[in-house]
Amino acid sequence: MTDNPSKKFYVTTPIYYVNDVPHIGHAYTTIASDVLARYHRLLNEQVFFLTGTDEHGQKVEQAAKLRNLSPQKHADKLVTGFQGLWKQLNISNDDFIRTTEDRHKTAVRHVLSQLWDKKEIYADTYTGWYCLPDERFWTEKEIIDGKCPDCHRPVEAISEQNYFFKMGQYRDRLRQHILENTDFIQPESRRNEVLGFLEKDLNDLCISRPKKRLAWGIPLPFDPDYVTYVWLDALVNYISAPGYPEDSVGFQACWPADVHIVGKDILTTHAVYWMTALLALELPLPKKLFAHGWWTIDGEKMSKSLGNVVNPSEMAETYGVDAFRYFLLRQVPFGNDGDFSLTALITRLNSDLANDVGNLLSRTLTMLERYSGGLSPQPVKGREQEDIALQDAAETLFSKVDQSLSNLEFEKALVEIWQVIRIANQYIEKGAPWQLAKDPEKKERLQIVLYYTTETIRIVSCLIAPFMPTAAQEMNRQLGLSEISTTLPLNVVARWGNLPAGLHISKGKPLFPRIQPEKKQMPEKKLPPPKSDTPLPVKSLVSIDDFAKLDLRAGIIRSAEHIEKAKKLLLLQVDIGTEQRQVVAGIATKYKPEDLIGKEVILIANLKPATIMGIESQGMLLAAGGKSVLGLATFSEEIPPGSTIR
Ligand code: MSP
Repeated sequence: MTDNPSKKFYVTTPIYYVNDVPHIGHAYTTIASDVLARYHRLLNEQVFFLTGTDEHGQKVEQAAKLRNLSPQKHADKLVTGFQGLWKQLNISNDDFIRTTEDRHKTAVRHVLSQLWDKKEIYADTYTGWYCLPDERFWTEKEIIDGKCPDCHRPVEAISEQNYFFKMGQYRDRLRQHILENTDFIQPESRRNEVLGFLEKDLNDLCISRPKKRLAWGIPLPFDPDYVTYVWLDALVNYISAPGYPEDSVGFQACWPADVHIVGKDILTTHAVYWMTALLALELPLPKKLFAHGWWTIDGEKMSKSLGNVVNPSEMAETYGVDAFRYFLLRQVPFGNDGDFSLTALITRLNSDLANDVGNLLSRTLTMLERYSGGLSPQPVKGREQEDIALQDAAETLFSKVDQSLSNLEFEKALVEIWQVIRIANQYIEKGAPWQLAKDPEKKERLQIVLYYTTETIRIVSCLIAPFMPTAAQEMNRQLGLSEISTTLPLNVVARWGNLPAGLHISKGKPLFPRIQPEKKQMPEKKLPPPKSDTPLPVKSLVSIDDFAKLDLRAGIIRSAEHIEKAKKLLLLQVDIGTEQRQVVAGIATKYKPEDLIGKEVILIANLKPATIMGIESQGMLLAAGGKSVLGLATFSEEIPPGSTIR
């Protein structure tokens, strides 16, 4: 598509809102993008892999307000959560863009000035339905029963003077482009969704917010009373990071992006808003936009109030970074929705990692130690049917993986690799090298079995490297391959017959230790409610695992009020750093609402929400006492809200 010989493979993730800490959804998109970036680097291509954070807009402003911080200070704090997680998850991004950086703001201003000069933007009074969580206007026709057609949350009517991008006029050109380029939007279901969307009239896009309503944004270069709509600001990151507009060499080396990877919820903003803005700017369109599916947790939608948000950092720490990366990409085809559960995770890790690949490596290394003097074997040519079948499977693996990854079929690529691993394990069982070793006449056959197995593992190890970089490196180390350095591209390295003989193998610890399911999944213990105010005898012992299930957080009570017709109950808003929780607490006989404001408390943050007197209570405060409260548990020092308590 481009004649530029220095064009890099350019892959992006969405930039994440810094209104909260990262969760499994963020990790998913970023890991997938990382696999693609690593794969293309292994092909010896120049790669530019971009991720970052979306720091302007209402969501971030509100989150900052809850923490009593300026939006910038708030963003500076929360961004470290994303950067730290990417480090932990071995994410190899080449750049990290923050929309509050000057280089980005300059690019946004440039884009807006260009569109303004080209008369692609005009001022108008707008009356519409606004979806606050999505920060997006909808027309009367678009809303469904007073709700946002995208996220299904209630919308509110707003009328104000604003600026509009003439998006509607690009409808036909965009449709044409999608129809002519079948790979442009993937998977196909999402492509059809966008085509369906473009069948109707396409409205112009409101690209401003009056400063009086939202101050936290990039001021419009042609009207300082307005800030830029957060989506137009955010989307520009894909060109601002590689150097638009000032570093034209850097920019030309990357643009157009090879693939934008996003979640299905932000398909329209990318497929329509971004693409039409690029058409207006007369910039080439990205080659591909891929929208992946969403994870549910144990069959339920992931939400803070349900307390079921999966923390990717904890997962990686408990089960291993590579294992977590593997699970996310293997469990569901990229593009489909999937369900996350610990049972599924543990089952898959034990079967695919500990059993299949872990065993293959360890048994092969043991064989090499016993029958090959601890050295990689000499190349030999097998003649048996199973030799030919194994060689064929290993030899064709690269092209299968390559084909799958060019379609972002991560799961299919892993299935192909594991198919070869299984064939290799069966080959060993059938070949029974331990029997061959007993018979001096079978020496040649033993050599063949050793060579074929080791060569297959070598090929497998290079192909799993983009998915599980540390495990692949460790496999290489154990196989003695780190003794040789190679700058050859993966398609050459993965060819049959490249295993050098005589490398010193060094068997190490199991690559993926088995996980004991019973340790991780203790059934919840239900304790009876306390019966009186007198100190109770200490209850039966619980294990540390039971205690560790509680997510206890330091919080500050920001507001407290009586609940009508409930003498004992108060309705509290408790700030736990990253969010505010509404708690219905039976403490009205002990405390007046006004005495509670600013009090530091301990909240059980992962209790299933309960509805009390028709009000949802999202957690519980720790307090001494039984039927009536003796006092709320608090701290002897000032503790930042959100701190965990162990
Ligand atoms: N800031 C915007 C993106 C701007 S890009 C120019 C944004 N940020 S986000 O932090 O809300 O979400 C980013 C990504 O997380 C999206 O790709 C979204 O699909 C993904 N996920 C959020 N929850 C998810 C799941 N439960 N499962 C999988 N991914 C999900 O949107």
